[in-house]
Amino acid sequence: MNLKQLGPLFSFRALLSVSVVLCATLLFRTNHLWFEEQQPEPSAPGLRPKTTLTLAPDVTAVLLNWARLANVVQIITVLCGEALDGVIKEVVVWNNNYSQPLGYDDLAISNCPKLRIYNSPENLYFQARFIACANASTPYCFIQDDDYLVKPEVIRSLRARIRTHDIFVLPPDEVLSSHLLSINSSSTNITFGFSWLGYGALILRSHAESFLLLLARIGASEEETKMADNYYSILKNSFPEIWTGAPMPLFGGGAFTVGEEGVARNRRHIAAAAKYLDAIASNHSAGWPYVSLASFQSEPRMERSPCLEKTCVIESTIQSLPDLFATDTYRAAGEIFSREEQLSMILTEQFTSNYMNFPLSFAVDANPDSFFHSAWNATEGDMLVLDIFNHLQRMDWTCVEWSWLVDSGTAQALRASAYSYSSDRYRWVESSGAVSCSTYSPKDRVSSSAVLECRIPMEGLSLDSARYFRLQLREANLMLPSPWLVYETSITAL
Ligand SMILES: *[C@@H]1O[C@H](CO)[C@@H](O)[C@H](O)[C@H]1NC(C)=O
Ligand SMILES: *[C@@H]1O[C@H](CO)[C@@H](O)[C@H](O)[C@H]1NC(C)=O
Ligand SMILES: *[C@@H]1O[C@H](CO)[C@@H](O)[C@H](O)[C@H]1NC(C)=O
Ligand SMILES: *[C@@H]1O[C@H](CO)[C@@H](O)[C@H](O)[C@H]1NC(C)=O
Ligand SMILES: *[C@@H]1O[C@H](CO)[C@@H](O)[C@H](O)[C@H]1NC(C)=O
Ligand SMILES: *[C@@H]1O[C@H](CO)[C@@H](O)[C@H](O)[C@H]1NC(C)=O
Repeated sequence: MNLKQLGPLFSFRALLSVSVVLCATLLFRTNHLWFEEQQPEPSAPGLRPKTTLTLAPDVTAVLLNWARLANVVQIITVLCGEALDGVIKEVVVWNNNYSQPLGYDDLAISNCPKLRIYNSPENLYFQARFIACANASTPYCFIQDDDYLVKPEVIRSLRARIRTHDIFVLPPDEVLSSHLLSINSSSTNITFGFSWLGYGALILRSHAESFLLLLARIGASEEETKMADNYYSILKNSFPEIWTGAPMPLFGGGAFTVGEEGVARNRRHIAAAAKYLDAIASNHSAGWPYVSLASFQSEPRMERSPCLEKTCVIESTIQSLPDLFATDTYRAAGEIFSREEQLSMILTEQFTSNYMNFPLSFAVDANPDSFFHSAWNATEGDMLVLDIFNHLQRMDWTCVEWSWLVDSGTAQALRASAYSYSSDRYRWVESSGAVSCSTYSPKDRVSSSAVLECRIPMEGLSLDSARYFRLQLREANLMLPSPWLVYETSITAL
């Protein structure tokens, strides 16, 4: 046997066992810094991103009050909670109910020192969100309606990810609507998807400000300006980053969009927004604020979901929509409803129900009873990325594994996949750990042989700086192709 061949392998193993020893020794440092500020991706290989830390909260939450004060109180309680101490600096309640001014006593129950109440002299509807945000002292604003609760973990994840563009959280049915109400044309540079803000959105303060300027510049009417939400994502002219989430409904009646009349009003304003965008796009020389007209984006479509119990996000390139969604035959924003009709026609009942009931978010909701189920069979090149927002060393994690609860078909796909990790999403290190699966048998549950627990230890050099974890399906020739079925997946410290 040639010992020289064994040499490097041997020292590599030795290195790994050193890191295993370290697992046990680094557990005692405490760390209050909960995530690393995301830096722009390095433009050249070998350029290490600088690490800076967020120490002061820099998000203003904006809530509108109209007729559901009890809901507003409940939401303030979450936004002011300890879990968001490092994130939210101020909670602005904009009271649109001018006949009933609000005082701090009315909201005392939520006991929130970050609260600021603004009694509006008139009902400005949704425009008020953008006025309050433009006036904020922070670079970011968190926006939501008064009929949903968004978990603090989701807000923290939004903050950990935001950089140069807004992020919108939507339930699966609204994500599908957003894809239906989109235009992506390379010949006209018109590229947008419609998205609501009310299910939870983190936006840039500067966007709120330039958006209000734009509405004034294009001569939007008073009614159009009040319905600002219908215009916000369309007039940006870039495909929004959308996360499939699970906002929890709060009941209480008094919803703004009710029945046919409300739906018709929304569509009228979406059509008006599209018409403005076509006019804007045909006049580049005007130097419009807010709108991005420069170039058509050709980023691959990705589905994203925030983890529900942890601060992390999962991203997937697994095909989620029929091929027709990726074609760009429609060029003008004004064709939005024709495109929606064309796409709706090919959506089968089975597809839609799978999309709504088994979304990607169910793979990271900390509930092993719900699962993500892909519409198509696992395919070569399918990719999943988990971003845990922090380098392992900063969390004092030395040894980690990627754990999964899956069906047997997906276990087969996991074995046929390559695993890697990265500190910057740019340079990836292949992990050498092997997949091992066993029947999932939790103590408090009847074990089911249909559910497998698979673990992949992450191993390799410079693991301590890892933040992103990636799976890529390598082989297309699986014995029995089947869709992805994932009950739960996470990165866990050993
Ligand atoms: C304004 O607030 C009062 C008191 O909470 C409430 O009774 C009323 O319904 C609100 N106004 C509107 C238009 O909803
Ligand atoms: C804008 O911010 C200032 C300072 O925080 C505050 O006094 C004022 O009421 C705000 N105006 C609006 C319209 O929110
Ligand atoms: C483009 O916009 C500018 C500034 O608003 C205006 O002066 C000009 O007439 C517009 N051109 C066309 C072709 O509409
Ligand atoms: C689209 O954007 C590109 C890059 O900015 C530009 O060169 C091109 O003229 C634009 N096309 C149209 C139709 O505006
Ligand atoms: C837009 O179209 C381009 C190709 O023309 C494609 O690469 C891209 O993924 C599309 N974007 C979206 C969000 O559909
Ligand atoms: C998925 O694979 C199965 C075989 O396991 C095959 O019967 C089925 O047609 C495939 N489905 C799709 C959508 O390709």
